[in-house]
Amino acid sequence: MAQLIITIDGPAGVGKSTISRRLAEHLDAIHLDTGAMYRAVTLAAMRANIDLTDPVQIRELIGQTEFHFEADHDDMRVWIDNREVTNEIRDPQVTEKVKHVASMDTIRHELVEWQQRFANDYPRIVTEGRDQGTVVFPNATVKFFLTADPSERARRRQLQWKESGIKVPLEQILQDIETRDASDRTRATGPLVPAENAVIVDTTRLSIDEVIEVLLTHIPETA
Ligand code: DC
Repeated sequence: MAQLIITIDGPAGVGKSTISRRLAEHLDAIHLDTGAMYRAVTLAAMRANIDLTDPVQIRELIGQTEFHFEADHDDMRVWIDNREVTNEIRDPQVTEKVKHVASMDTIRHELVEWQQRFANDYPRIVTEGRDQGTVVFPNATVKFFLTADPSERARRRQLQWKESGIKVPLEQILQDIETRDASDRTRATGPLVPAENAVIVDTTRLSIDEVIEVLLTHIPETA
């Protein structure tokens, strides 16, 4: 049977992670969170105290570091040199710095290979990121691109922070989101754009359940 690959791309705060996890569970597929890979490389670079804007040093670091990723339906688990960093890669400092690594051509090429190799091991995957439908899995079974108004995305992010006991002003989140969006959209390699044949879903006024319902209408029942 052909491999099932569902790609879910879109900007920060659009609900990608929750939706990808839920969809993976529904389809009995593995959830591949490619943002976790960019975050892991960024965290390793921060810990090694190297210049985050220097691709040569980051490349070298990747060569000397052992990254390990494990996935099921749920959050991806991440190890750097045998130490689990699943929570640490979500630190706000990592979130702020990840744009450097994400905008480096050579590093993107390397991580695209990691993602494709990872997918090879599984017959069914739901993969989320920015370039999954365009660059990483151009032959995916179904491609989705999620959008939502920036103010709604900021509100959702604020709620997530609040649930983790962290208070962040809405204006600051909105500004961060807009900066990250601009950086994601304008980079030369793997920019945040919908694939030509992606289904675009605006999640601004939809609950998670409603989004899942919409996505399922585009996935063949035989999948
Ligand atoms: O989805 P996220 O917030 O965990 O992503 C972290 C960063 O990595 C974000 O700035 C965009 C970048 N990223 C990317 O450039 N390409 C991907 N496939 C996934 C994430």
